[in-house]
Amino acid sequence: MKPVPTLQWRDNALRLLDQRALPAEEIYIDCRSTAELAVAIKTLAVRGAPAIGIAAAYGAVIAAMETPQSKDFSENCCDLLDTLASTRPTAVNLFHCLDIQRKILLSSPSRDVAVHRLLNSAHRLFEEDLEASRAMGRFGADLLPKGCTVLTHCNAGGLATAGLGTALSVMYEAHSRGILSGVYADETRPLLQGARLTSWELQKAGIPVKVLPDSAAASLLLSGAVDAVITGADRVAMNGDSANKIGTYPLALAAFEAGVPFYIVAPVSTFDPLTPDGTTIDIEERGREELSIMGNRQLLPPGVMVYNPAFDVTPVRFITSIICERGVISSPSEIEW
Ligand code: MRU
Repeated sequence: MKPVPTLQWRDNALRLLDQRALPAEEIYIDCRSTAELAVAIKTLAVRGAPAIGIAAAYGAVIAAMETPQSKDFSENCCDLLDTLASTRPTAVNLFHCLDIQRKILLSSPSRDVAVHRLLNSAHRLFEEDLEASRAMGRFGADLLPKGCTVLTHCNAGGLATAGLGTALSVMYEAHSRGILSGVYADETRPLLQGARLTSWELQKAGIPVKVLPDSAAASLLLSGAVDAVITGADRVAMNGDSANKIGTYPLALAAFEAGVPFYIVAPVSTFDPLTPDGTTIDIEERGREELSIMGNRQLLPPGVMVYNPAFDVTPVRFITSIICERGVISSPSEIEW
């Protein structure tokens, strides 16, 4: 299985598969400044917790390249890293990768050395993510019965990572073992990552996929048609509470009620050792236009306000297991840090 070309370092720029244009068009954009990359992250040209983190790691290389050598080099460069850190608050991978790069930056004796070390580090984070996705796929597929049908939410595939995805890596592995019948993909209102991205990825891989409105998931689960719900996460607290795309929590409740196992698939880089439980996770709120405009149609009367959180937190009691590259666990507090 070949990884999706979500992000690539080419000719001193970060090339992104522009996810805003999918599935209609497969176009690439080159980010050559941290300002361009910050816009790409904010507007979801690149998205998904691991992909945002790795994009920011390459962003640190760009920051060092665009900062002139001076006695304030590290300080000026760190300001650009802060710009990248301010793009989206929920996915912890962004902060994890920027922390790694900031340490490298501050310990480098010159701009040239910093650029070289930061690039090596970004490539390493990319490779680690790819390896993690393969391991998670294997651990996850071991939990699935023969001939299974699974349901997923948002896009937790290659498009959301540097590799094969988190939740979708399990589906790719199950497909290659011949045990996967098909996948239901929630459309994932309001930005439709399930309808636009997950169905695009699974179709390319030859995996049968059906898109459903988010509101149809609960009754589908109760009907017995689904063997497991599998999603990714943007931040997993130490007790296992997990933030993921808005709509994940109601899905977990519905799975619990229907007696269907609910799995979170996330690499260790999505675990947050500084967050004891889900109550303190910063949930991004996004703009009115995501709910008020569809194509060129205005959906809301002028002046009507919206509530548009991008994520919710699923309490650990509704999560059957968390699958990471080290194995199948109940919470990040079980692993050795
Ligand atoms: O707003 P997005 O599209 O960045 O949200 C992405 C998700 O919620 C994914 O499910 C999550 O990042 C896990 S992806 C491997």
